[in-house]
Amino acid sequence: MRKKLIAGNWKMNLDWNEAMTIFTDIIRLNGETNDHCDVVVIPPAPYLRYFFETTADLNSNIQVGAQDCSAQSSGAYTGEVAASMIHSVGAAYVLVGHSERREYHRESSDILSEKVERALEHGLIPIFCCGEKLDDRDNGNHTFVVDNQLDGTIFELSEDQFKQVVIAYEPVWAIGTGRTASPDQAQDMHSFIRGLVQSKYGESVASGTRILYGGSMKPANAVELLSQPDVDGGLIGGASLDPTQFLEIIKAAK
Ligand code: PGA
Repeated sequence: MRKKLIAGNWKMNLDWNEAMTIFTDIIRLNGETNDHCDVVVIPPAPYLRYFFETTADLNSNIQVGAQDCSAQSSGAYTGEVAASMIHSVGAAYVLVGHSERREYHRESSDILSEKVERALEHGLIPIFCCGEKLDDRDNGNHTFVVDNQLDGTIFELSEDQFKQVVIAYEPVWAIGTGRTASPDQAQDMHSFIRGLVQSKYGESVASGTRILYGGSMKPANAVELLSQPDVDGGLIGGASLDPTQFLEIIKAAK
């Protein structure tokens, strides 16, 4: 049985005071739920260490993650943050290949493969994002696009490495738009992805792989999306900035 995972991707939002208030609210509210799913908060990088310490101080089982890591290990790469640094401040997860990084930073499959390698080398769990644009969906190319995104990257990993990875399917047309994939569209794609994992790594790896859905997940649609058999959690943007909404989604992951 796969344990569900709810991850809040804060993107480049909230100043320090706002971030701390919201994070402690999330911890407080989450303490009232039982341990039915894993919860990760993914704030901007400067907040990671303090968030990690706060979870320890407040005895919370919420984990923290970074939004990106460098494809390089260390050295003269101004502005980059290494996977080893992210791990050393207590983060457990890192997003790799979010569509905003692919789009605005031109991150190619080669770069993303390097990032996944760096994350795994340094004990981070990569949440590897994939998903088609609206044109691809309209043209019926969505499965082809997602297959390609996985093929040149995480499907190059050894079985032992692959077992560490979480996949997030995020149709680009649903991110921040208020337009969500229908539960059937999500389930179809998730089951397609699990089938690809099965052909590549076999049944046992496929049945253990967590595949999250992301793209305008809200309290109003979370129950239905999260009850699809192949939807193992959510990567939440906008709604993760509101503790009440985020907690409703966590509760929906029962
Ligand atoms: P959204 O973002 O929930 O605001 O659509 C999801 C994401 O980009 O991870």
